[in-house]
Amino acid sequence: MARRKNAFAFAFIRLASCLMVSSVYGDYPLLGRVFSSHYGEQMQKIQEFKGSVFRRDMVSLAASSVAAAPQPGSPSPRVYLVTSYGADPTGNKDSTDALMSAIADAVQASGKGVLIEGITNLGGAQISLEGGNYMISRPLRFPSAGVGNVVIHGGALHASDDFPTDGYLIDLSSNSSSPYNFEYITFRDLMLDSNYRGGGIFVPKSLRTSIDNCYIAHFTSNGILVQGGHETIIRNSFLGQHITAGGDPGERNFSGTAINLNGNDNAVTDVVIFSAAVGIMVSGQANVLTGVHCYNKATGFGGTGIYLKLPGNTQTRILNCYMDFTGIVAEDPVQVDISNCFFLGDAYVVLKSVNGVVNGVNIRNNMFSGSGKGIDIVKLDQSGGPFKKIDQVVIDANNVNGMNVRSTVARGSAQGNGTSWTVNFSSVLLFPDLINYVQYSLSASGGSFPNHSLRNVSGNSVVVESDVAVSANVFVMVEQGTKLPS
Ligand SMILES: *[C@@H]1O[C@H](CO)[C@@H](O)[C@H](O)[C@H]1NC(C)=O
Ligand SMILES: *[C@@H]1O[C@H](CO)[C@@H](O)[C@H](O)[C@H]1NC(C)=O
Ligand SMILES: *[C@@H]1O[C@H](CO)[C@@H](O)[C@H](O)[C@H]1NC(C)=O
Ligand SMILES: *[C@@H]1O[C@H](CO)[C@@H](O)[C@H](O)[C@H]1NC(C)=O
Ligand SMILES: *[C@@H]1O[C@H](CO)[C@@H](O)[C@H](O)[C@H]1NC(C)=O
Ligand SMILES: *[C@@H]1O[C@H](CO)[C@@H](O)[C@H](O)[C@H]1NC(C)=O
Repeated sequence: MARRKNAFAFAFIRLASCLMVSSVYGDYPLLGRVFSSHYGEQMQKIQEFKGSVFRRDMVSLAASSVAAAPQPGSPSPRVYLVTSYGADPTGNKDSTDALMSAIADAVQASGKGVLIEGITNLGGAQISLEGGNYMISRPLRFPSAGVGNVVIHGGALHASDDFPTDGYLIDLSSNSSSPYNFEYITFRDLMLDSNYRGGGIFVPKSLRTSIDNCYIAHFTSNGILVQGGHETIIRNSFLGQHITAGGDPGERNFSGTAINLNGNDNAVTDVVIFSAAVGIMVSGQANVLTGVHCYNKATGFGGTGIYLKLPGNTQTRILNCYMDFTGIVAEDPVQVDISNCFFLGDAYVVLKSVNGVVNGVNIRNNMFSGSGKGIDIVKLDQSGGPFKKIDQVVIDANNVNGMNVRSTVARGSAQGNGTSWTVNFSSVLLFPDLINYVQYSLSASGGSFPNHSLRNVSGNSVVVESDVAVSANVFVMVEQGTKLPS
């Protein structure tokens, strides 16, 4: 794994150095000759784009270097620079009060426009961390609930050595009795270091919160905890308890949960979780996880990549994820889709029985790669009792290398000269002793034309018999997991 990552890094450095040469000398035609003209056009577009970004940066830098804290309620653009409030961007001095003052001013600004009832629209007010790294000794909170359309961005926060261990660096909780605390709060381009004291971001009872391009490390509880509310989108972010790139000697001891979704309708997209006991814990419905790369703690060391803890009403989609030595656990899964994922390093899916229900589960079109130790791609944990209510479970069309296929659909054949043919599916079918549907055909050699019949379907084995001995091939297809209408 490390070797492969180095190769990527090397390729990236080479590409980056090409870009640098071209931006210094503006030699796009040279690139155009070396690469295809289509590539050349793309490069020119990238250069133009970079140029425009640079100019905009220059303007905003020039503006912000003279800007003071805007007056509360002022109609002018509102960027609250935390250093204007005395925050220490070197991270040596406690900046909690300064940051809280900046937030307080930002949220006292008058609102315009429309958000959900009870939430004042702050019109996009920004609290800028100005690229500084600030130490805080208490969670950053908004002075009161009921505001929205505000952005905190562009810097780093770290917890002091006396930060409360049950706290979060950024905490959207409130004693408000309204249904929602906040709407459309954005946290962008932040590095959050919990200093092994508590968590990163707590989002209770809020609507449409965005966490974008954040790096959250050294949490002991949760990197991000979402509780109630809905539509928190966590995207393009990196979370890990320890800063490691895999193969860490302390991996067995990793603890904490990187993302804890205890609410409905959230999305996690394009996120890497590099250390935590549990990568993503889901205990709310209708959440979608896509493009998540979990190598937080290998399953072999007791870690879980994604844990679906909503027995009986799961409603979760896990799509296009990369489960890297670290698997998925689903308790009594009811409506779960796991598809187009890549499971590396013997990572697998566990269906765990709580009340014995599994219904509406698709595990299809995934790739599994293992080390030939005979690990099943999907396992049942029936320590809490057997699965008794099994319906609409389709585990099929996964490609598997170095692991054991487990499916709810299987095909097999038996060849022999005699009156009985047995095809034993017990090494492939997931559920023990369950076949809901069988289809077979018997192909006898020579001119024989025997009577034959399905004689026994038990123990995940199918027995076909003929009335006279013949040399024949018997082909069998079975399905388990879906009850057929009788
Ligand atoms: C809620 O109220 C309690 C008691 O007044 C106070 O200690 C606590 O800080 C409040 N919490 C928030 C998030 O405002
Ligand atoms: C893991 O934790 C155990 C028990 O706390 C400790 O003895 C051990 O040294 C730790 N291992 C590493 C690699 O940190
Ligand atoms: C099948 O077995 C019978 C005897 O049981 C034998 O007569 C026959 O030749 C065999 N057929 C083939 C194709 O081996
Ligand atoms: C099918 O194979 C399993 C082992 O994979 C074995 O325990 C079982 O007895 C076999 N069943 C039949 C009918 O041969
Ligand atoms: C099945 O075989 C028996 C004798 O072996 C024969 O009497 C019967 O007609 C056959 N049935 C059919 C449907 O061919
Ligand atoms: C089917 O096979 C199982 C296992 O071999 C056996 O216990 C059972 O009696 C068989 N059933 C019938 C109807 O032959």
